[in-house]
Amino acid sequence: MKLVRRNILSLKPYIAGKPIEETKRQLGLKDVVKLASNENPLGASPLALKAVKHALLGINRYPDSQGFYLKRKLARHFNLYPSNFVLGNGSDELIDVIIKTFVETDESIITADITFLEYKIISESNGRRIIEVPLKYYKYDLDAIRKKLDKKTKLIFISNPNNPTGTYVTNYEIKEFMEGLPKDILLVLDEAYDAFIDVDDFPNSLGHIRGGNVIILKTFSKAYGLAGLRAGYAIADAELVSYMERVRQPFNVNSLAQAAAAAALEDRKFLARTREVVLEGKGFLYAQLTKMGLAYVSSVANFILIDIGRDSRAFFRRMLSYGIIVRDMKQYGLKNFIRVTIGTKKENEKFIKILKKVL
Ligand SMILES: Cc1ncc(COP(=O)(O)O)c(C=O)c1O
Repeated sequence: MKLVRRNILSLKPYIAGKPIEETKRQLGLKDVVKLASNENPLGASPLALKAVKHALLGINRYPDSQGFYLKRKLARHFNLYPSNFVLGNGSDELIDVIIKTFVETDESIITADITFLEYKIISESNGRRIIEVPLKYYKYDLDAIRKKLDKKTKLIFISNPNNPTGTYVTNYEIKEFMEGLPKDILLVLDEAYDAFIDVDDFPNSLGHIRGGNVIILKTFSKAYGLAGLRAGYAIADAELVSYMERVRQPFNVNSLAQAAAAAALEDRKFLARTREVVLEGKGFLYAQLTKMGLAYVSSVANFILIDIGRDSRAFFRRMLSYGIIVRDMKQYGLKNFIRVTIGTKKENEKFIKILKKVL
């Protein structure tokens, strides 16, 4: 096909978690449990739902292109300034904005080989070279990344915690890494799952944004339960933010998403309940997997990477036939692994029941 840019021809599309409705329709099932996209199993924050209802009355108008109220709430929440925030149509979009804003076409991007696939897809769709450094014990190998830095390196993506392994780099490791990092290389810390952290040595990444070469990504899609509305944000030094603001589309975050996100941010009760359900569910799943003799990677996020010791795509289809959607890890290069999102108590129990049956 001559019409298409060369780098698009070889691009592999992102395969998303299978939707519940599609599974019901295709398999004629009534009850389907989705544990495939690390969403919040409790639904959305009730305060966010209320805010959306109110905001519905205004959808004949364009959204606030500056996201004034949401940025003001974020600034208060993090004790920063509104000028430290860029809003995105999910943090996905901000990955694209960051690359377009900062990486020249002849510069390169570094990340891990087994990590959030969008770093690679978006880099390549923009015609930027991406170097994938192998994980070490399922964890980002910062020493190996350091050795890969050269004159062409412009940007490093670290998913912390890492999707799909659930592992994390510690405060000490990031500090040490930052000390050796040239100021003309940007470090993006993608903290999509930070609300689920249950360890003490997770990095205090906000402390690094003053240096001017760190961007933090966060999202309302996971713990806040707003994946369907699409709202994420970047936190960075105000000068970096001002350049990203030039690149993003003016109405990238719709008015319902802005209203919902601003309300969800203050819904401490919902967030606390979400954490409780996820941490309890994690304990239950660990215990069951251990009993079954299945190996898994210890996770600080709301999902678990499990070694099922057989082809994960065939396994995925078998689970699907019983109404359980998991994520097979073939596209991540882990052909014997699945990733399971921690669900409600009932969902986790059903998952284990079907898992036993299928194995
Ligand atoms: C590490 C990581 N970053 C970013 C995202 C994108 O989230 P969203 O675009 O919904 O904000 C995801 C979603 O799965 C993720 O796992």
